[in-house]
Amino acid sequence: MPRMIFEAADGVRREVEAASGKSILDIAHDNGIDIEGACEACMACATCHVIVDAAFYDRLDPPSEAEMSMLDLALGITPTSRLGCQVVLTEALDGLAVRLPDDVLDLREI
Ligand code: FES
Repeated sequence: MPRMIFEAADGVRREVEAASGKSILDIAHDNGIDIEGACEACMACATCHVIVDAAFYDRLDPPSEAEMSMLDLALGITPTSRLGCQVVLTEALDGLAVRLPDDVLDLREI
């Protein structure tokens, strides 16, 4: 199984294994990592914003226009920002590292 690394906003890193074909959001939820995902991957919330390690960004399928539009609503967007619900882990992406942004939209607080 491919591995993924999540880096929290405070710099703490956690490595997990996940089945190929799962999204970053699903992998986070499977492992108790706090990414909200309020719209359950309908691309309607941006609460799943993650910052992809630059070494991996160009190896991902490019974001759709709809994803880019939703990312515009995310806080702290960077050149390697993606929606975690739209990026799927594959064997070729073994070691994929993402950082959780400092500020996130949290619809649980509304
Ligand atoms: Fe809402 Fe990804 S979970 S956009």
